[in-house]
Amino acid sequence: MAQIFDRSSNSLTRLSLVLYGVILIGVGVTLNYLQRSPWVTRQGQRPDQPVPFSHKHHVQGLGLQCQYCHTSVEKSSYAGIPPTKTCINCHAQIWTNADLLAPVRHSWATNQSVVWTKVHDLPDFVYFNHSIHVNKGIGCSTCHGRIDEMPLTYQANTLQMEWCLNCHRNPAKNLRPTSEIYQMAWEGPSSLHPVWCTNQPTTPGTPTAQLVNCTTHDPDKEGPQIATLEEPLGPESPTFNDNRLWSSSGSGSVHAPVPVNPHYVKFTQQEELGKYLLVQYHIRPPRQLTSCDTCHR
Ligand code: HEC
Ligand code: HEC
Ligand code: HEC
Ligand code: HEC
Ligand code: HEC
Repeated sequence: MAQIFDRSSNSLTRLSLVLYGVILIGVGVTLNYLQRSPWVTRQGQRPDQPVPFSHKHHVQGLGLQCQYCHTSVEKSSYAGIPPTKTCINCHAQIWTNADLLAPVRHSWATNQSVVWTKVHDLPDFVYFNHSIHVNKGIGCSTCHGRIDEMPLTYQANTLQMEWCLNCHRNPAKNLRPTSEIYQMAWEGPSSLHPVWCTNQPTTPGTPTAQLVNCTTHDPDKEGPQIATLEEPLGPESPTFNDNRLWSSSGSGSVHAPVPVNPHYVKFTQQEELGKYLLVQYHIRPPRQLTSCDTCHR
């Protein structure tokens, strides 16, 4: 062989082998990068919509609640996209002739739904359910970002398996009181903004709550919630009718209903609150939450 291939060609082969390796690694890295790139995951993209609907205007500007339009988010696996009727509730009066709303008027006239382009779209082999997440203390903004600040809707997170697993391995860091689910600006408790929680009933007569009650207002400073009756009570509140004056007179001679003053635990750190809620919400251990058949059934 030495006659045909001299020493230099030998090192040439070696060089090309090295080059080949470098290219292979390069391709691998690029593919991996592409797989995670926004181009594949659609993260951050604003797809074309028939109507440039703005959450910023309707949520932040007009103060509409998410549930007003996404009615089934607490009850079913789908949050749902509102029917044209929901828009017409207002847009029969407001912006009635705007070109932007022509597809909405057309839909209303022809009884055919507006065809919105999906912003989030998991593959069919993945099982996802809104109601369980929302009822176990995961807020909309944890997964969808600041929707209330989006003039056009986009996907804030990758929705890749690793993203789901990252939370399923340790949900505590993202758990909040269910009362704060729609709170877009929620940042978790801090010493400046503590959270108080109790798992005892907060109103007389209610059965022991299965779910925990939390508040962002100091329950000690607020005092018992039913101790003041400023508004005259109507006939629909018969239990209070007999002693309307008990709070304003302050004489102490009238027997007021005994307010329940449950024991509240104060939280100033997400870590503590998360651990507490993990127990209260009966969240399954990570081993179960990350098992393949949780999401691939
Ligand atoms: C006035 C009705 C209305 C309100 C209120 C509203 N939405 Fe929407 N939402 C829509 C419409 C219409 C779409 C479909 C068009 C789009 O994607 O922008 C949509 C789309 C979305 C999407 C993307 C859906 C997809 O295709 O993947 C998310 C996520 C969402 N909304 C979350 C929220 C959250 C969170 C709130 C409360 C902060 C909220 N919405 C309040 C009407 C509303
Ligand atoms: C509660 C009343 C209300 C509902 C429900 C409502 N809108 Fe609006 N919408 C408004 C008002 C008020 C404005 C004007 C906002 C402004 O100019 O600041 C507006 C503005 C708009 C605009 C003009 C661009 C903009 O955002 O300013 C579009 C497009 C629009 N709405 C689409 C929709 C669609 C689609 C729906 C149904 C999913 C809907 N709206 C539901 C009250 C409503
Ligand atoms: C744990 C993460 C998570 C939370 C919390 C969450 N979502 Fe979603 N949402 C998703 C995913 C994932 C999809 C895509 C589902 C699919 O493609 O099947 C989605 C889709 C949507 C859609 C599109 C329509 C649908 O039902 O698929 C809307 C609207 C929506 N979410 C609104 C909300 C609102 C409002 C809240 C808060 C009450 C919320 N989401 C809370 C992850 C979440
Ligand atoms: C921010 C945290 C978080 C993210 C992100 C998240 N999950 Fe969850 N998921 C939870 C929690 C908390 C539960 C409730 C566990 C329990 O009750 O034991 C849950 C439960 C589930 C369940 C169980 C439903 C049932 O009925 O048994 C499924 C399925 C699921 N998640 C799928 C997903 C998928 C798919 C994604 C990604 C697209 C995702 N989750 C993203 C926190 C999260
Ligand atoms: C918390 C939910 C969740 C769990 C648990 C989970 N997956 Fe997934 N898986 C997903 C989601 C979401 C996707 C879709 C990712 C995408 O579209 O990029 C996915 C995609 C996949 C894919 C397609 C290839 C890919 O990466 O996109 C395979 C294969 C897969 N999962 C296998 C598994 C196996 C094996 C397990 C158990 C070790 C598992 N998954 C556990 C949510 C989950």
